[in-house]
Amino acid sequence: MTKIFADNILEGKVAFVTGGGTGITGGIARAFAEHGAKVAITSRKIENLKAMKQKIEDAGGECFAVAGDVRDFSDVQNAVARTVEHYGKIDIVVNGAAGNFLCAADELSPNGFGTVVDIDTKGTFNVCRATFDELKKSRGQILNISATLHYLATPMQIHVSAAKAGVDAITRNLSVEWGRHGIRVNGIAPGPIEDTEGMKRLLPEPLKEKITRKIPLGRFGRIADIENAALFLVSDAASYIDGVTLVVDGGNWLLGTSLS
Ligand code: HXC
Repeated sequence: MTKIFADNILEGKVAFVTGGGTGITGGIARAFAEHGAKVAITSRKIENLKAMKQKIEDAGGECFAVAGDVRDFSDVQNAVARTVEHYGKIDIVVNGAAGNFLCAADELSPNGFGTVVDIDTKGTFNVCRATFDELKKSRGQILNISATLHYLATPMQIHVSAAKAGVDAITRNLSVEWGRHGIRVNGIAPGPIEDTEGMKRLLPEPLKEKITRKIPLGRFGRIADIENAALFLVSDAASYIDGVTLVVDGGNWLLGTSLS
């Protein structure tokens, strides 16, 4: 894929990316490394990080893989400490670890609801909280991966909708509270992105063509679309953008087709 941004826009930066082994956040980790950042990726299982670490290193980038469950604050603290030991600092945090499955509200158990809120919302807070001291030192920034599910209402997604609404609240609150430390906090709300775990779980293949016809830009998003939005938001080009969740969905949510 043709590069849009200069190769060195993240030169000298260290990024800490949760859920950085696969999918959208894996793509973001790889793209950051391709643009000069040293990248720490974290996920519950170290096996899930190996392929991405290899891919980044094969392309000449630097990657440190560290296991950790974002739901567990001491796990997060450990992953952060090991990253700082390894790279000396953290400039950019990407909260991408997420959980999802389709389930009707009247069939969803409280633990099912709570599990997704714990991963997405509490996990995002845990990581922001655990990296605050480093971000304060680096005058760094946070990028939270959200969704558009909760802008209207998405059946079978009450848990993720509630969780991502919480993530958006975290983005706004922290931008206000931590702006004075020079920390920018923004988010991205991806629309329907092909070839992701989320889309495999949410969208049966036969429905894909029907949905494609409804998307205003006439196509599903690609992971590269989110990578480019992420590169822009963490770059100096966005240095006065704070507290924003940028929708990257081909105009989809405005039609209320509800899939994102
Ligand atoms: C109903 C379910 C369920 C399902 C799990 N649960 N799967 N309920 N339908 N399909 C319930 C369980 O019954 C249990 O409740 C509770 O959730 C916890 O389940 P566990 O399997 O013990 O949890 P855990 O092993 O921690 O796994 C978490 C997970 C899992 C979220 C359930 O799917 C996961 O690890 N996902 C990570 C990968 C992932 O989902 N990536 C996609 C992200 S995409 P009980 O009551 O029985 O104890 C994404 C995009 C969102 O986030 C935006 C939209 C596009």
